[in-house]
Amino acid sequence: MRATKRVADGTSRAFSRSVNGDGVPCGRAEFRSAAVRMSGAVFGFSQTAGAAEPHFVTVESPEWELVLAENPTRENAAELSLGRIPDGWNSKEITFDSAHRLNLTQATGFPLQARQSAILTARIVAPEDGVVPASAGADYYFEFFREGKSYVSTLEHGNGGTPISADDRPFSFPVKKGVNRVALLVQAGSGGWECAIRFPEPNAAALRRFSRTAEVLQAFPPAPKLRYGPWITHPQAGGVFIHFTSEGPMAAAVDFRKNGEESWTRRYELWNGYLRRDTDRHSISLQGLESATDYQFRIVFFPKDESLSGWLPQHPKFEVAAPAVYSFRAMPALQDPVTFFAMSDTHMPGLSRLEMLRGYDRAWRFETADFFVHLGDISNTLDNFDDEVLGGFAEYFCRRNRVTPLCVVHGNHEYAGGEAGLWNPGFSAPDGKSYYAFRCGPAFFLVLAYWGIEPDATNLHELDREQELWAEAMLKSEAARSASFRIILNHCPPGGDRADDVTDPTARLLARLNQVAPIDLFLAGHVHEYRRTVLCGTTVVILDGGRSAEELNLTAVRVTPEQLTVQSGKNDGNLFDSFTLSARAIP
Ligand SMILES: [Fe+2]
Repeated sequence: MRATKRVADGTSRAFSRSVNGDGVPCGRAEFRSAAVRMSGAVFGFSQTAGAAEPHFVTVESPEWELVLAENPTRENAAELSLGRIPDGWNSKEITFDSAHRLNLTQATGFPLQARQSAILTARIVAPEDGVVPASAGADYYFEFFREGKSYVSTLEHGNGGTPISADDRPFSFPVKKGVNRVALLVQAGSGGWECAIRFPEPNAAALRRFSRTAEVLQAFPPAPKLRYGPWITHPQAGGVFIHFTSEGPMAAAVDFRKNGEESWTRRYELWNGYLRRDTDRHSISLQGLESATDYQFRIVFFPKDESLSGWLPQHPKFEVAAPAVYSFRAMPALQDPVTFFAMSDTHMPGLSRLEMLRGYDRAWRFETADFFVHLGDISNTLDNFDDEVLGGFAEYFCRRNRVTPLCVVHGNHEYAGGEAGLWNPGFSAPDGKSYYAFRCGPAFFLVLAYWGIEPDATNLHELDREQELWAEAMLKSEAARSASFRIILNHCPPGGDRADDVTDPTARLLARLNQVAPIDLFLAGHVHEYRRTVLCGTTVVILDGGRSAEELNLTAVRVTPEQLTVQSGKNDGNLFDSFTLSARAIP
């Protein structure tokens, strides 16, 4: 099975910082965009934008030609997009089907061979200077050029999943009024050779993805509406963080109460005491919660108006509450059992990921866990964060307005993609760090983003060093020492792929941390193959990963003051691994 995987993850520690990869809209953004004023707004936007940039324009679908050459290169594609055709090369007209797709094995007549290349060229006629929104997908790699310059490439990571669609990878490119030459290089995967491309009319969802500039805000003014979420993170004893996004930047608050109570308590989104109104990505902390108690909450927006003041004593009177009331259960008391489910490396397009989650949910019933852990690499790349990660993962954990809290670990693929920075407001600790600690029930959790990077030209190793010093201090805390079990969650496993190499940097970290306090369990992902070993006295479990439900697994962990039970299985609910650890006293 493993040899056939086309998305092999790091068997080395090399980080991928490419912006290449896939991103499949989940349909929700399209749906939501319909709620935004559409007719006229787009054209008014295009015509009144003046010198501000970017200035989006709509273009007709062009006529494409297939270049008849065996295995052309990306340099050829760049040249062809400048109108330079090598001697002896010809082309023929081709047509995409109604889903904007083209089968290149049929179109070229060449036998399928992995990384076999073809180039399509077209002349795009633009009504004026501006930027054209586009999106494309390929089985399995593509790169798009205009006038000799590359604007998007998935040559390194590929599409991230099949079947492909023209919505897989949104991008944009500039055009001049009149004729613009473009070229699309498509390389085959091992199982197919196809591409799909389209130039959608600008809409609010697409434009927000391409640009967060003032011009987009002007065309689509912020509205007091929920866009994505809510989702909940940092499931610690006594508190959680509630996240959501709005239709444009605006101030927000959360009202909450215990189930059955009449009145709400309000928590504003503050930034050093300032009522934040500069962001559409909201995170609000609820603390002082009673353990194992059901709470309700609702989201409140403060649309921009003259009365809006950042100074709380004069907080605005005009407010709009989103109509829905959500609920969640606060984490258990320190000595009460806690259960969490974990998965890792869900490298699949958003719609497939939702389908996969539904399958595992049916078998394991996610609502029976106190919280859900993702051990990193939610998506292949973060090029389309909102649709892929919020719509294609985080939102799944709000079912019938009941929210299961999440604990999300930062993986190597969370460094990849043009929107990689959006992971932070969605899942990082409140201080913006990708590592944090929390106590939940009788377990103490260290969530790390540790890679064991040696000092080099980058200063990434400083993050590792910072984490280690912090982790040592955390393990000396009362919360850690009084816990029955200490658990590390880190994307990269200690001991390498087989979790048995004691010279591996993460294994050496584990050995050092074990001298501070015994680490009972280390959960990791990254290598996409399930393993259980004991390393430096710690039980290490590496979860499966891959591009289909069958390649993944779910690991359920239940912690009581006396024992920690781990069960791993697939989406049929049958277990393939199960074990129990007993609590160890700290000397
Ligand atoms: Fe991965």
